[in-house]
Amino acid sequence: MAEREYDVELEKSTNEWMKWGFLIMLIMVAIFPVYRIYEPSARADARDVQAASLVEQGSAIYSLNCASCHGAMGEGGVGPALNSKQFLTSAVDDQINGLIAVGVPGSQMSAYSLDFGGPLTSEQIEAITAFLRNWEEEAPDFPGWRDPLGLLEGN
Ligand code: HEC
Repeated sequence: MAEREYDVELEKSTNEWMKWGFLIMLIMVAIFPVYRIYEPSARADARDVQAASLVEQGSAIYSLNCASCHGAMGEGGVGPALNSKQFLTSAVDDQINGLIAVGVPGSQMSAYSLDFGGPLTSEQIEAITAFLRNWEEEAPDFPGWRDPLGLLEGN
């Protein structure tokens, strides 16, 4: 008799657990689509934050290494205007990275990559390029971008 009572108790508590298990499963099934909706946008937000921090890093490196010749805002000086529509639309990121890395032999534009005796890592160069690219949306039209000071005019 005592044993039977025990069985009934056990069955009751087992049923109770199964009820909860089933409920939890239903909740998870219900939550999953919500997760699917929000997760990609969380990832996109993380990407935006990452891109913004790359641009910020690039800005600091640019100020120290490039602004003296290319202007604080890329408006140009001794070096070409890098904020011009003409420059930014004519070169893809890899080309810009390469130019900064290798420099322009025979000009004041020296090589900046550690691989070519310069001071910067490839990550730092990519950050600069991200910073330059950041100007593209509002880049001014500047056909004379290669010679912003007019130094070559009449040569
Ligand atoms: C001492 C001056 C000087 C400094 C510093 C300098 N540049 Fe230059 N840069 C030049 C000159 C001059 C040219 C043009 C070279 C040529 O084509 O004769 C040039 C060319 C370039 C070009 C190629 C533009 C084209 O013709 O397509 C890029 C890109 C560039 N520089 C980026 C940079 C970046 C980024 C930095 C900093 C890491 C930097 N430069 C530092 C003087 C400089």
